[in-house]
Amino acid sequence: MCGIVGYIGYREAQPILVDSLEKLEYRGYDSCGIALCGSTMILRKDVGRITELEKRLSRCEAHRGIGHIRWATHGKPSQANAHPHLDCTGKIAVVHNGVIINFQQLREQLTAEGHHFYSDTDTEVIPHLIEKYYSGDLEQAVYHTIADLVGSFAFAVLHEENDVLIVARKESPLVIGIGDKESFIASDVSALLNHTSRVIYLEENDFAVITGNGVRVVNQRHKVWRKEREIPWSVESAQKGGYEHFMLKEIYEQPTVVQNALREYLSLSGNGLNIDMIKNARTRGVLLLACGTSYYATLLGKQLLEKIAKVPVWAEVASEFNYSEMVSERFLAVAVSQSGETSDTVKALKKAKSMGCMTLAITNVLESSISRVADQTLYTRAGPEIGVAATKSFTAQLMALYWLALSSSAVEMQICQSLLQEMRLLPDKIQQILDNAERIIPCSQLLAQFEHVFFVSRGLNFPIALEGALKMKEISYIHAEGYAAGETKHGTFALLTPKTPVIAITSPDNTYDVLLTNLREMKARDVPLITIASENDQEIDKFADEVIRIPDVNPLFSPLLNTVVVQLLAYYTARERGCSIDMPRNLAKSVTVE
Ligand code: AGP
Repeated sequence: MCGIVGYIGYREAQPILVDSLEKLEYRGYDSCGIALCGSTMILRKDVGRITELEKRLSRCEAHRGIGHIRWATHGKPSQANAHPHLDCTGKIAVVHNGVIINFQQLREQLTAEGHHFYSDTDTEVIPHLIEKYYSGDLEQAVYHTIADLVGSFAFAVLHEENDVLIVARKESPLVIGIGDKESFIASDVSALLNHTSRVIYLEENDFAVITGNGVRVVNQRHKVWRKEREIPWSVESAQKGGYEHFMLKEIYEQPTVVQNALREYLSLSGNGLNIDMIKNARTRGVLLLACGTSYYATLLGKQLLEKIAKVPVWAEVASEFNYSEMVSERFLAVAVSQSGETSDTVKALKKAKSMGCMTLAITNVLESSISRVADQTLYTRAGPEIGVAATKSFTAQLMALYWLALSSSAVEMQICQSLLQEMRLLPDKIQQILDNAERIIPCSQLLAQFEHVFFVSRGLNFPIALEGALKMKEISYIHAEGYAAGETKHGTFALLTPKTPVIAITSPDNTYDVLLTNLREMKARDVPLITIASENDQEIDKFADEVIRIPDVNPLFSPLLNTVVVQLLAYYTARERGCSIDMPRNLAKSVTVE
């Protein structure tokens, strides 16, 4: 949520900032801006996308600057609320990601002291505090400012009289890129891929003074050393690579994601993870914590762990767990998050840890906040996911949860091995669905005409129905609800008409017969019925209006195939409706506010 970037070095800063902001657009896209410092401060900001602002920019030779892409929290999207924000003198510019909780109180104090504010944002207090404390030593002024701030932040400061960038972080991520006689800053590494592969991840409460020649990191007023690392992602991995949208590219990457996960997990060694920790959890129980799509992954994870590993499992929405009285000291707490930065999930993991739980993070992003909190981390290694709608990261999370269940399995080794054998076939089966993706388009063309749809299933595929509905609503703006098919008669039936299509995910498992009974009851209410079914299922043709086939697969793994179908259904429906697929209305990729 919100992205910040910065550059200091020998090149013109403006094009570098623009390029980096374009790469961060998935973090927010309601307004944007840059501040450049040559001999004087130049500020350019507006509502809308960075490509729009770029058209209005004239050349600027400044060699240092900062930039911001905004997802509004305090104040609507407007030019005044867009970052960077300035102090009264116009010499200090600040970009910020996070939330300053005590901004109102600070603003009142500063106003009483003669400062003037032009925006509704919490951020604007930061440049004014720096101005208040500045008497020739910028570092000291920023230290004093930080001491006044309550909340979360990653911010960058540009000052007309100081040839440095100063950055600080608390609970919001910040990474510094190291170049040859130039340095970069960004909220995440995808913004740096075009410029450098050498990075330093700042840690909690770090403060850094950055020049073109290097970085000095300070924590609690002591100089600290932070290891330089290589970015594990290629430049191409964050480009569309010929696809119309990032989301489509990421859907098509799933055979590789599954293949990579299998390569990593098949030995059951799980990239150095201490499996004993998980096995111990058998006697205690597992607490799964996540939000959004990642939460739906945990709902399947719960079923898998209970079914295969015979472990008692609780899957909790992180934002609810944080305010619940649930006591959890004897559990293994597993936080699942693509970004590793989701504020509710990080908070939930911290809460579980403080209660005495052992903790495990499942995340896609190296050095992310949940991996810093957790005792151990399982990286899903799906590569950068740029589309706001999670796709390949969900599949990668499912693979991690399958592995977790199998590796802590109470099932005999022989059965376990034969399940792993079946998993080896999954990449090809997913590829078959993708090769026939065009067959899904007519169903999407049908769905695109409606305003309400239901996704239903039972058992292992119920979480996939929930995920299908989430994908559909977030990118096509169709009101979609995921439902356990058995629950529909308890109220939802009142809504069923020929104007409410139902998408049913079936699987030849113990839920099949009863699910078909439910679908017949729905069909009797004249709903348009689209089913997702195995290629061997003849029965379904008798009453479904449309059948989308998936390759025959062990029902245990059918969620992985059905996931790809619901993603494609949502994608093509959104495309049919002309929606902004990669950057849906009002959404941001990583939700770093509660
Ligand atoms: C999924 O399409 C959404 N964009 C959203 O629900 C997302 O899954 C959620 O915000 C959690 O994000 P995380 O996995 O990065 O924690």
